[in-house]
Amino acid sequence: MTDAAAASSPRAQLLDCADFTDAAHRVLPGDVWDFIAGGAGRERTLAANEAAFGSVRLRPRGLAAVGEPDTTVRVFGTRWGAPLGVAPLAYHELAHSDGEAGTAKAAAELGLPLIVSTFAGQPLERIRAAAGEAAPPWLQLYCFRDQEVTEGLARRAAAAGYQALVVTADTPYMGRRLRDLRNHFRIPPHIRPVNLPSAARQASSGSAATGPDSPAAHSRSAFRADQDWTVVDRLRRISGLPVVVKGVMTGQDAHAAISAGAEGVIVSNHGGRQLDGAPAALDALPEVVTAVGGCVPVFLDGGVRSGADAFTALALGANAVFVGRPALYALAAGGASGVRQLLSIMSGELTDTMVFTGHRTVPSIDATAVEMPR
Ligand SMILES: Cc1cc2nc3c(=O)[nH]c(=O)nc-3n(C[C@H](O)[C@H](O)[C@H](O)COP(=O)(O)O)c2cc1C
Repeated sequence: MTDAAAASSPRAQLLDCADFTDAAHRVLPGDVWDFIAGGAGRERTLAANEAAFGSVRLRPRGLAAVGEPDTTVRVFGTRWGAPLGVAPLAYHELAHSDGEAGTAKAAAELGLPLIVSTFAGQPLERIRAAAGEAAPPWLQLYCFRDQEVTEGLARRAAAAGYQALVVTADTPYMGRRLRDLRNHFRIPPHIRPVNLPSAARQASSGSAATGPDSPAAHSRSAFRADQDWTVVDRLRRISGLPVVVKGVMTGQDAHAAISAGAEGVIVSNHGGRQLDGAPAALDALPEVVTAVGGCVPVFLDGGVRSGADAFTALALGANAVFVGRPALYALAAGGASGVRQLLSIMSGELTDTMVFTGHRTVPSIDATAVEMPR
């Protein structure tokens, strides 16, 4: 959206995540909006992710003498400006031509990392360069039937200076997303998963969601549905990078991930896009935190829409959180500078929440800061 368009819009000021969401809804074509906003099945899990944050209350503390809180955290030896990053999202160019490089640069200006999707529309090396050294990006990997595709991406990420790999464990193939089926959604032909070899990318661009070449159909033909936990150690050995498993929703899977060599887990239900009926990510967090027992960092994505939401997840044991859809909404609303503005707002909201709850540092945020629903 241009500045002029923003100024004449009903919510001219972009002050919180909802403002960016509204702005994106106004500028994005309907089918692209549905592709981003939608979830699987009846979208019960999608709705639960945001609702879960609304049911937790924060405990205010008075005269806590916090002063200026320190929002920084260390993850894999890198200092982040806040315990906040951008989750892997396919095809940022659907939202804005600045694409992944724009998002990476905007996040890095605040010392925050982007997890680059396997389905990025720009070369990994270009995105890596845009991020600079403040907060190197991580690369997300799906497990392809052709193992060499997955392993080739892992090697490229290591060579380009990515900081970690993220294996998405919840997607043996894509969930059934009814909005895309109803819209016969197509990824526009000019947007392509340029980091995949042509054989692996073939079916993923430009065809109807119901047709043989739809993103959903592509995932069925290209992804390896019988992948097991051995992929974690294999990717770690090939790349020399820490491997984080995304899509861990139970204590059982947390144990399996750590036994397999994972150096971090992301509690995530893929933003409600895979198993409809899965619990909210926030509701699954305590079980995973208990199972992990401090062995490795625990991250969370799904429904984080403010700095206060980030604070809530930290209080329940997360080391940091990632935002998904809001990053694309901010990109649609204002390109890279929209992303920078949104992340800066969320970071400011976290600062406010720390001050009002009496927390000077991120590690000091614990369960005493919240009241769970009875
Ligand atoms: C449009 C879109 C594309 C996504 N693409 C990927 C992807 O390529 N890889 C992946 O692991 N997760 C992907 N996800 C899931 C996100 O990483 C994340 O789990 C989810 O969006 C978090 O929920 P939130 O959107 O409520 O913040 C995608 C989500 C959306 C909305």
